[in-house]
Amino acid sequence: MEAKRSSFTGKIGFILAAAGSAVGLGNIWRFPYLAAKYGGGIFLLVYLILAVTFGFALMIAEISIGRKTGVSGIKAFGMLSKNWRFAGIFAAIVPMIILPYYSVIGGWVTKYFVTFVTGGMTNAADDAFFGTFISGVTEPLLWFALFLFLTAVVVFFGVEKGIEKASKVLMPVLVVLSLFIAVYSLFIDGALEGVKYYFVPDFSKFSSGTVLAAMGQLFYSMSLAMGIMITYGSYMPKETSIEKSVRHIEIFDTGIAFIAGLMIIPPIFAVGTPDMLEKAGPGLMFVSLPKLFTHMAGGRIIGAVFFVMVFFAALTSSISLMEAVISAFMDKFGWGRKTTCVVVALGSLVLGAPSSLGFGLWEGVKILGMNFLDFFDFSANSILMPIGAFITCIFVGYVIKPSSIIDEVKEAGNAFKAEKLFSIVIKYIAPVCIVLIFLTGLGIIKL
Ligand code: PFF
Repeated sequence: MEAKRSSFTGKIGFILAAAGSAVGLGNIWRFPYLAAKYGGGIFLLVYLILAVTFGFALMIAEISIGRKTGVSGIKAFGMLSKNWRFAGIFAAIVPMIILPYYSVIGGWVTKYFVTFVTGGMTNAADDAFFGTFISGVTEPLLWFALFLFLTAVVVFFGVEKGIEKASKVLMPVLVVLSLFIAVYSLFIDGALEGVKYYFVPDFSKFSSGTVLAAMGQLFYSMSLAMGIMITYGSYMPKETSIEKSVRHIEIFDTGIAFIAGLMIIPPIFAVGTPDMLEKAGPGLMFVSLPKLFTHMAGGRIIGAVFFVMVFFAALTSSISLMEAVISAFMDKFGWGRKTTCVVVALGSLVLGAPSSLGFGLWEGVKILGMNFLDFFDFSANSILMPIGAFITCIFVGYVIKPSSIIDEVKEAGNAFKAEKLFSIVIKYIAPVCIVLIFLTGLGIIKL
């Protein structure tokens, strides 16, 4: 089994590929609108606290489980303990739900990228542009299909040739470009008010909803609780330090999210309308940024570069989502990579279509008051991922015990500095907090 598994060729390859999975639309599209909606600074603060505790412990646990077992998320739990097979199946369902709607947003990004590159910035900045586009039928579906196809092509060629090569080039480019745009947006007249909103926590805006949203965002952004980091861990060489890699990935992921917020939120104060904050939702990036670019000298080029960058970030993440789904099918049914790839791509096309149509033709169809995309997003991030994370904590804390993870982290003479923090968080703090946040966030209990 192990011999058949392809592997990353080294430390940098692994970190970049895992960071490529983590950094994506979650950071650039999702984080800023949640931060705008949930009170700016207070959301940032809650997010940070959760990242260095929960995020850190869970990512260590997942990567270690993967490297220890050498198999994908769906098999890893069952391999370590027979009765826990269900945990693997549960984790594998999450990327299956996310991949289709993620590709719908990926399709929107592709459309914006092409619009900017072909000189359509002024159109894109028009108030009606975004709404008209997503409420169409054929156009968004075609962009969605194109994005899914591009993802499938990379995954088709396998881990080393596809994912690693792509990540090595795209990730560093992403960092440089996002820094550039964030700094630029700070110098626009009136943007400082937005910087204040973004960085200074206003405790009156704190609610259990803020914490639930931050927690869901954390799992989503770090690609946790869905078997992805287990799968990537299974490709990781023993000599690579898990602790250091996790720190790097975390800094990278959180850093890009913060920078994305800086690119998107302050300019709203300068060139947007104040109600954009309250109404912040999936459209924020697509509506507020093109306006910003029209105000910039050289905005057309900067805008084009920006959407190219978001496109790449989205692609490396959707690659990882598809890789997780595919490796689950391959491990479970013994299918070949290429067949699985075709099956998963076609399946995602069918599952994603309602999310795309939910903004136009099927606008009237609501599930629990949400359109299809929001419903899938909510079920994955606010329901399934917290449950998945809880299961992982119990599994590691009480079934295989933190010591088995600690041993794996220390393989090949590597150090594990935050060993104690890890054990306490995974055994006590995380499971208790996840249940509390989950139940209060859903309004089931009141604190
Ligand atoms: N973490 C990625 C992002 O922030 O965009 C998206 C993602 C990748 C979510 C993989 C879920 C996942 F399984």
